[in-house]
Amino acid sequence: MHSLAALLPLISLAIPFVNAQAGQTCNVTTSCLAAAPCCSEYGFCGTTEAFCLGGCNPLYSYKLDSCLPNPVCQSTLHTFPNNDRLLSNATIYDGNATEYDFTVDEGSVINTNQNGGELVLILTEANGGTRISSTRYLHYGTVTAKMKTGRWDGIVTAFITMSNVKDEIDWEFPGNTTLEGQSNYFWQGLITNPRHGGFSNISSDSYSNYHDYTIDWQQDQLNWLIDGKVVRTLKKSDTLVNGVYQYPTTPSRIQLSLWPAGTSTDNAGTVAWSGGLINYNDPDYVSAGHFYALISSINITCADPTAPAADITGYVYGSNSSTDTPSVDLTNITTNINAAAPALVGRSIAGLRTLLGVTVVAAIFGQML
Ligand SMILES: *[C@@H]1O[C@H](CO)[C@@H](O)[C@H](O)[C@H]1NC(C)=O
Ligand SMILES: *[C@@H]1O[C@H](CO)[C@@H](O)[C@H](O)[C@H]1NC(C)=O
Ligand SMILES: *[C@@H]1O[C@H](CO)[C@@H](O)[C@H](O)[C@H]1NC(C)=O
Ligand SMILES: *[C@@H]1O[C@H](CO)[C@@H](O)[C@H](O)[C@H]1NC(C)=O
Ligand SMILES: *[C@@H]1O[C@H](CO)[C@@H](O)[C@H](O)[C@H]1NC(C)=O
Ligand SMILES: *[C@@H]1O[C@H](CO)[C@@H](O)[C@H](O)[C@H]1NC(C)=O
Ligand SMILES: *[C@@H]1O[C@H](CO)[C@@H](O)[C@H](O)[C@H]1NC(C)=O
Ligand SMILES: *[C@@H]1O[C@H](CO)[C@@H](O)[C@H](O)[C@H]1NC(C)=O
Repeated sequence: MHSLAALLPLISLAIPFVNAQAGQTCNVTTSCLAAAPCCSEYGFCGTTEAFCLGGCNPLYSYKLDSCLPNPVCQSTLHTFPNNDRLLSNATIYDGNATEYDFTVDEGSVINTNQNGGELVLILTEANGGTRISSTRYLHYGTVTAKMKTGRWDGIVTAFITMSNVKDEIDWEFPGNTTLEGQSNYFWQGLITNPRHGGFSNISSDSYSNYHDYTIDWQQDQLNWLIDGKVVRTLKKSDTLVNGVYQYPTTPSRIQLSLWPAGTSTDNAGTVAWSGGLINYNDPDYVSAGHFYALISSINITCADPTAPAADITGYVYGSNSSTDTPSVDLTNITTNINAAAPALVGRSIAGLRTLLGVTVVAAIFGQML
């Protein structure tokens, strides 16, 4: 779900801020103070892993470079013979993208150990759904997820790219239909009216059959594909609004999730969109002990505007107050928080969750409805 901040008109970066302290919220009008410089994915100021890595938002942090650099893209075909390349507890992630390909941010994963290995995203009544994020970022490129989606009312399977300033590109699959995928995109979290949603047919049941869902994100256009066929195209040139291209341009993590949209605490529109309230007496749930979605592979092909030299470790945001779109630079500074600041002692995501209460559960899936 979406913060109120993004609903406000974007305000120039040059406006002087009132500053927020550790644990306080950071947003479009209030950036963090030097002592707790990082604005976390969930909009709180702090110093440690949960704040300065992952979705750390440079625009609301103390400085544009307060967040750790975003680990640079590497073209890779990820398969899942086992789950060794996923860090099952994102709390202890230190920013070393060589060590892990994905973090499990919420919920839990297992492996079928069949068909060469299949990653299983699990949703139970207790865990509130599962989200994984790539440790590396994509700054343009092509990503294909070969997956089987959930088929249950109120449960949404999602495959998205999400930047730290909330540029977002989506494939989403509400569980009450298995013959349709929904595509969408957002620029810096801006919710437009009408929104940019699209609908595409899938040739066979997406629960029983693997299909390839692709996000092909290039500098001049964005294509969504199913099974290698383009089903939707967005040209950057068609996104110009008041002199600003409302087009995703910032480095993004790849996120896959199975999330509960049909809960009594969600708003009625969200529940209806997802097909109604979740039925935990569903025979599939009773027999498996959970709802699930399967991922067979994630194929990433980078298309950086400037090919990174061998010593490049990550992306950083560059200053640009003359447009609403920050520039993106390459850096050789470490992405590892322990190497960057050994004195910082990790503050757990569990601690963050306590701080945020239930908000984090709704926010963690990021999807804009
Ligand atoms: C932004 O954060 C400040 C400081 O934490 C808070 O007072 C303010 O209410 C927040 N604004 C919004 C729109 O959330
Ligand atoms: C994750 O790691 C932290 C820090 O070691 C620990 O406190 C927490 O219990 C772990 N969580 C899970 C679910 O294992
Ligand atoms: C990152 O992880 C790799 C693989 O485990 C390891 O070789 C390397 O030393 C680590 N780098 C840092 C800075 O910790
Ligand atoms: C998608 O399927 C529906 C129902 O079968 C059909 O009415 C519609 O024309 C199809 N759309 C496309 C773009 O093929
Ligand atoms: C899914 O749920 C929505 C909202 O309740 C409804 O409009 C739609 O017809 C449902 N689709 C199917 C295939 O049941
Ligand atoms: C991975 O994606 C790239 C670019 O789309 C493609 O050329 C390559 O064949 C894909 N690899 C596999 C195994 O599908
Ligand atoms: C800022 O934006 C302007 C206009 O798009 C561009 O000419 C300039 O190069 C940008 N500056 C930086 C530092 O990215
Ligand atoms: C990073 O780049 C700077 C400037 O190009 C260079 O002086 C420095 O040696 C590089 N550091 C590493 C670790 O490669």
